[in-house]
Amino acid sequence: MPRLTADRRHLVRFILNGRAVEGEAEPRLLLVDFLRHVLGATGTHAGCEHGVCGACTIQIDGEPARACIMLAVQADGADIRTVEGLAPAPDRLSVPQECFREFHGLQCGFCTAGILMSLDAFLRAQPDASELEIRTMLSGHLCRCTGYVPIMQAALAAQQRLREAAHA
Ligand code: FES
Ligand code: FES
Repeated sequence: MPRLTADRRHLVRFILNGRAVEGEAEPRLLLVDFLRHVLGATGTHAGCEHGVCGACTIQIDGEPARACIMLAVQADGADIRTVEGLAPAPDRLSVPQECFREFHGLQCGFCTAGILMSLDAFLRAQPDASELEIRTMLSGHLCRCTGYVPIMQAALAAQQRLREAAHA
């Protein structure tokens, strides 16, 4: 359990995209709000705020998780990755990001960070997943803009490029 500060907030510490971070949180503060409003990591979006839309998806210890149904204090000591940590370098996108750009897998972009975090973890865990399995995974994300066709095209292209790179 994180340490209590003088005004009865918790001092929450974790690794965020490879860097140690810390901040104070009231016991009821959601992790998504802690990331955005305390740490300034605004790439993670808050949509439904009850675990349905997938917009707030991040990775905790390598596994996708919804930051809107977890408290900040529960993340103490974790290794957290958000969309800000996906690109391998400031001037280079990750393969899924590249494919979303190329196949127009986004319009307003509100859902995109969460989808990318799920897809990144999924393709690492299941590089040979079928189209249906990718579709099923993506069904946990709601997008108000794209109609999903370009999202699927981008996801399939990312899978193919990652497989080619693994076998190169
Ligand atoms: Fe977390 Fe919708 S904002 S699932
Ligand atoms: Fe707008 Fe998905 S791109 S909600």
